[in-house]
Amino acid sequence: MENDKPKFIYVICQHGAEKTLREEVLANHAGLKLAFSRPGFVTFKAEEASLGDNFALKSTLARTWGWSLGKAIGDSADALAKQIVESSRFSTSVHVHVWERDPTLPGKNGFEPGVSPLATEVARMLAEANEHLAGSSTKQFNRVAGVDDCIFDVVMVEPNEWWYGYHIASHAAGRWPGGVPIIDTKVETFSRAYFKLKEALLWSGITIQSGDVCAEIGSAPGGACQLLLEMGATVIGIDPAEMEDEILKHEQFTHVRKRSSEVRKKDFSQVKWLVSDMSVTPTYTLDAIEEIVSHDRVSVTGVIMTMKLTDWKLVSEVPALMKRARDLGFKFVRSRQLAFNRREFCMVAVRDRFALRKSKRVKKVAPRPKKKSKVEDKPRESE
Ligand SMILES: C[S@@+](CC[C@H](N)C(=O)[O-])C[C@H]1O[C@@H](n2cnc3c(N)ncnc32)[C@H](O)[C@@H]1O
Repeated sequence: MENDKPKFIYVICQHGAEKTLREEVLANHAGLKLAFSRPGFVTFKAEEASLGDNFALKSTLARTWGWSLGKAIGDSADALAKQIVESSRFSTSVHVHVWERDPTLPGKNGFEPGVSPLATEVARMLAEANEHLAGSSTKQFNRVAGVDDCIFDVVMVEPNEWWYGYHIASHAAGRWPGGVPIIDTKVETFSRAYFKLKEALLWSGITIQSGDVCAEIGSAPGGACQLLLEMGATVIGIDPAEMEDEILKHEQFTHVRKRSSEVRKKDFSQVKWLVSDMSVTPTYTLDAIEEIVSHDRVSVTGVIMTMKLTDWKLVSEVPALMKRARDLGFKFVRSRQLAFNRREFCMVAVRDRFALRKSKRVKKVAPRPKKKSKVEDKPRESE
């Protein structure tokens, strides 16, 4: 059964983050009440009449969210797909995102978030069902949507229970299937920090240009430095631990084998982007960043921080941490538990939003009569 005016929202989060996500969302939104919860998938009832399509959920842990239209339950994938394509929203939507909720913590037993082969297969079934549907528009499945596009979501919560609904892609992560950027996770990296940094850049709009000077504190073994070097940056890695040989040999790389507090602050004078990924508390990280950026010879444009959640309770301190970053003179400050994060979240602080890449506004096209729907086996990487 499809609701005319959706009253429930579904929120996608990391497997295991749902308890803290519930507390965070309920603390930020008095008009929401807890409804249903599974690992990585939480729903809330919206009691405020004023919550419209453009309602923005305030949450660091929410990976993506949308308005629920209902759930399909059945014994076979065919039966579930049939129920979903009957939704009037489905027939008019241009973008359809299909994904499974995370089965475990990212990075555990080889699991990485993203559209699974099963979700691709289900997208193919929906595309096929769409071919036989009279009056339905042409569709793109699991492609990066444009800014402010309305996206039809299918969340495979259980093998026989698929929730469906929609959301407006009002921010970068809302444009990606399941809030996960399309990243090739088969590439060889020195650590998962490669994917974390890649996602942080895509989400925040920070663009590293060839020749930019970047410093990373907490740089060993070197996944994030690997990405920065691939982008043509000149990189200073600060860490008392050993870096990978291949990184050490790179002519654009310098290793400062020290703790951040032991580095002379004027050594950061050429640094444009500062990355921090230390295995320490968020307060320690911000203390270290403060010491560096408040030195009068230092003028970094922005900082990308991985904040370790040594305790889930630290999520309640996010607003205070963000205020601290703003007080350091950064006007654009955002936090998000990235899809590729583990028990941690990302905080970016940029001097000015003009330093950020603008999201491409994709020219709106009216739904066209049906052509073959696009399902790609190997999605292209997010821009
Ligand atoms: C999660 S690992 C970093 C992974 C790394 N970013 C990469 O790309 O592979 C955390 C690192 O923080 C380093 N670390 C902890 N405290 C530090 C400090 N005070 N200064 C510099 N590095 C520190 C540790 O030695 C460890 O190598």
